[in-house]
Amino acid sequence: MKTSDIRSAFLDYFRSKDHTIVPSSSLVPSSDPTLLFTNSGMVQFKNVFLGSEKPGYVRAADVQRCLRAGGKHNDLDAVGYTARHHTFFEMLGNWSFGDYFKRDAIAYAWELLTEVFKLPADKLWVTVYHTDDEAFDIWNKQVGVPAERIVRIGDNKGAPFASDNFWQMADTGPCGPCTEIFYDHGADIAGGPPGSPDEDGDRYIEIWNLVFMQFDRAPDGTLSPLPAPCVDTGMGLERLAAVLQHVHSNYEIDLFAHLIRVAGELTGTQDLGNKSLRVIADHIRACSFLIVDGVLPSNEGRGYVLRRIIRRALRHGWMLGVRGDFFWKMVQPLVEEMGEAYPELSARQAFVEDALRTEEQRFGETLEHGMRLFDDIAGKSGKTIPGVDAFRLYDTYGFPVDLTADIARERGLEVDMAGFEQAMNEQRERARAAGKFEAKGQMPAELASQLKPTVFLGYDALQGSGSKVLGIVRGGKQVDQLGEGEEGLIILDRTPFYAESGGQVGDTGTLSSASGRFEVGDTLKMGGVFFGHAGTWHGDQPLRTGDLVDASVDASRRQAIVLNHSATHLLHAALRQVLGTHVTQKGSLVAPERLRFDFSHHKPMSHDELARVEALVNAEVRRNAAAEVHNMGYDQAIEFGAMALFGEKYGDEVRVLKMGDFSTELCGGTHVGRTGDIGLFKVVSEAGVASGVRRIEAVTGAGALAYIADEERRLAEFSQLLSSSGDDAVEKLRQLFDRQKKLERELESLRSKAAGSATADLAGSATDVDGIKVVAARLEGLDAKSLRDSVDQLKQQLGDCVILLAGAADGRVSLIAGVHGKALARIKAGDVVAHVAKQIDGKGGGRPDMAQGGGTDAPELPTILSALPEWISAP
Ligand code: ALA
Repeated sequence: MKTSDIRSAFLDYFRSKDHTIVPSSSLVPSSDPTLLFTNSGMVQFKNVFLGSEKPGYVRAADVQRCLRAGGKHNDLDAVGYTARHHTFFEMLGNWSFGDYFKRDAIAYAWELLTEVFKLPADKLWVTVYHTDDEAFDIWNKQVGVPAERIVRIGDNKGAPFASDNFWQMADTGPCGPCTEIFYDHGADIAGGPPGSPDEDGDRYIEIWNLVFMQFDRAPDGTLSPLPAPCVDTGMGLERLAAVLQHVHSNYEIDLFAHLIRVAGELTGTQDLGNKSLRVIADHIRACSFLIVDGVLPSNEGRGYVLRRIIRRALRHGWMLGVRGDFFWKMVQPLVEEMGEAYPELSARQAFVEDALRTEEQRFGETLEHGMRLFDDIAGKSGKTIPGVDAFRLYDTYGFPVDLTADIARERGLEVDMAGFEQAMNEQRERARAAGKFEAKGQMPAELASQLKPTVFLGYDALQGSGSKVLGIVRGGKQVDQLGEGEEGLIILDRTPFYAESGGQVGDTGTLSSASGRFEVGDTLKMGGVFFGHAGTWHGDQPLRTGDLVDASVDASRRQAIVLNHSATHLLHAALRQVLGTHVTQKGSLVAPERLRFDFSHHKPMSHDELARVEALVNAEVRRNAAAEVHNMGYDQAIEFGAMALFGEKYGDEVRVLKMGDFSTELCGGTHVGRTGDIGLFKVVSEAGVASGVRRIEAVTGAGALAYIADEERRLAEFSQLLSSSGDDAVEKLRQLFDRQKKLERELESLRSKAAGSATADLAGSATDVDGIKVVAARLEGLDAKSLRDSVDQLKQQLGDCVILLAGAADGRVSLIAGVHGKALARIKAGDVVAHVAKQIDGKGGGRPDMAQGGGTDAPELPTILSALPEWISAP
């Protein structure tokens, strides 16, 4: 059975059991800051388990693309070494949200495996969580699996509820005991059954995990029950395909066989069992889909995980003898294999190839040097590569430490990780910041279960009277009231306040009641559907749950935000017209003062491109088209031509904003009535923020006028300084620059004359050491280039000589040493510089005949220099 047929057979089966088939979500979890990547099928349903989101169904199934690299579930290091580990894989899953539970989940899995896929029952083993007698009995009595093939697994990971049979998505969130189904690949493969000492072999392979989701784990480790028990299952498509295609390694299934064959051709490798080919075939899937889902290589967070995977693949190519680029060429065969199941991959093929090629060329330049350095280090290090050296490889040659560890492992060496960590401290702080995020506006689960989602009135109104306080949250907990001066989050039944989302910042304003005022400093979404008004209460009486308040949004601030938000849409459309449709939004911030828009594009924008973008947006502003809002189904919206953002999750009903024939986008934000409201659009900066990502900042309306007034003031200052204005000022500035260049040239030639005469004097002062002329002198005010010229002239004049010149300026000295003729047999220029530098708190080095360095202009420098001939005679 082909991999593609397995996908459809799985979905068909669950469709026949009344499951709604949902599309795979992005590898980048939408609005889940606790998770780096989608690591299993349940990620897109997290809020459904927690009860804060209600889809229109209670049973679902899908094929989800997953990534297990660089997060809680990380298999990167194992890829290439086992028959079944991947960074990227596809997970077949079915879910029950408070509907069926253990009995049906187990029965479905068994029926599908033994009757649809026709796996022999006696090849299947199962595990259950050690205390889960119910699951044990269902397997044994209802399904008929003999007790000797049912293994109880306890807390085998060093803490309560830390077990192979207790599944959790991340350190916090939904979790529960699970039961796993294993396939026995037969006695000719090494390995023991689950729970035995050699369970890590390739004989007994877990194919399906059925999780009985029952708890929500808090950051402190406590488990609280979910609103309803749920089922979450995950079956690795590649593992199942291996079983159904009668091969013992995932890498032998049809999908991988093709990728490995092409990798073999591209790297000139005959032996298709070579593990590096497996690594390349695995990694092209992870890298391509990450790029499809909007991640680009960078030095932080998700981008750095991508970079590590790409570089690991390139190093394996290098090992196979590749010395040019090759990896991006794997995208084409991948599209042939997976483009049908994932049309987004085919659609973005050129972009993915381009991004990979750029990264490949960048790393190609340092890979070879780094490998040489590694050989050097390995030659000197014994069994362990010191942490500082691993850091040097990282810092200078861009070798991620796991890449260094991978190379070390091949040669039976280890890396001193603790030492590396220490050297790396600062960068690690950054990576951590990207991997873990603060849980801002956490919604207490019991409160969420009592409330209906907040009704948003703010598309049409900025005021609302008689909203009811449904909940008050303080320090993450639900409270009944807020006293004078106390801060908290207020949840109302309905509100005109916009809660931060889609890049648009939250509203500010006031909630007032008969007994006081709540100053709202920000509004944020809690649990996805509740609007939390964050602020401070001032009143004679406390604010209590059940009170009625009048809500009033700061209208001029909201108006400024609205102009910037609509202008962001026009900017997005204009960028796509001017630069091309590869431009997609990578992030945005819509604040009252300015808008910030990040988008994918590989090089800086030219002045002309920016001017065209600005002109296009302003033309749309002057056209003064109405901004129309349409609510419709997601599919209909896409048909309607609306741009949806990769990585965003949209509900079944979406809101589409259309401005003229120029821009149509899905958006829940607040917008202008007509484009003319924007008044004026002005770009203030364009810069790179990460590899392949540019950022534009711009202002609109009154903000744009203020910006222009400020520029005018600055221009007026320039004119005043130059005592002329307009075109005259430009001409005058040009003349000033020309004059400065001329003066610099004159200065340069005077300096070199001075160096010439100083050299002549120095040549006369040389000391003779065993037939070698030694010159050591401190010169005032000469820069490094003049010093080098002097050294060259002295070499010509003196023949066999050692020269050390120290050019002093502003308390520092630059050192240049030259060694020439017979003197080369005696001493190296690098040693001369190092000898002097180390006595003046400096350092230096270079070639045997010419070296340079620097240090402080110490009072003992003249003594050190005059002792040099003696040191050379007996170094
Ligand atoms: N979420 C479960 C897993 O990934 C099914 O194994």
